[in-house]
Amino acid sequence: MTQQPTSRSTTLSQDELKAMVGQAALRYVVPGEIVGVGSGSTVNKFIDALASMKEQIKGAVSSSVASTQRMQALGIAVFDSNEVERLSVYIDGADEIDHQGNMIKGGGAALTREKIVAAQSARFVCIVDESKLVGRLGKFPVPVEVIPMALQRLTRQFAALGGTASVRMKDGQSLITDNGQLILDVAGLQISDPRSFESEVSQWPGVVTVGVFAFQKAQVCLLATPAGVKTMMF
Ligand code: A5P
Repeated sequence: MTQQPTSRSTTLSQDELKAMVGQAALRYVVPGEIVGVGSGSTVNKFIDALASMKEQIKGAVSSSVASTQRMQALGIAVFDSNEVERLSVYIDGADEIDHQGNMIKGGGAALTREKIVAAQSARFVCIVDESKLVGRLGKFPVPVEVIPMALQRLTRQFAALGGTASVRMKDGQSLITDNGQLILDVAGLQISDPRSFESEVSQWPGVVTVGVFAFQKAQVCLLATPAGVKTMMF
């Protein structure tokens, strides 16, 4: 089901689109509860908006050190995921989302914690601008968090699927995740069946988390367009 945009067409920068969808996500936050909060530049806009209603919520469970620090700086209480059994809603961005709510995530290297918080949430609300909506996942290189000793074997396994894996770098060095592991970015994959892809790769020894979210897909996507925020339900 798709609802029409909520405002008239105008020219907006990507930053303004992110702010608009971050603000729109507030209506999914349940007063009196703890909300699951993702990571990335779009979620940063949501966190800034969430600060305006921090007195109405108990707090948040966070999916990254960066989001935790941002929320704490704004006075939002952050709970450990183990302290909370179930969240009614998890709000996060994506690098790609298809028309069924399957996503590629991990452009910010936080995919493992994002999948954990999504798994304990009843509803995943994905906030993106319209450039992220795709017919088929795979144009964006798939991030995979991996144990370093499995790097070469996993690179060969992805090559057998037609993918080219490269270790993500930061400031001239291998990027180390919040969990102390590495990220392989795998380009060139054709993901026609996201669930079976996620299922297969998740079983390869040395894979911590694959950045395809088909088992933890979105139930709602708020899509920022120049004409306003469009709501897609899956
Ligand atoms: C973080 O690891 C990611 O999964 C983000 O949700 C994703 O990369 C989208 O980030 P932006 O909102 O910055 O595009």
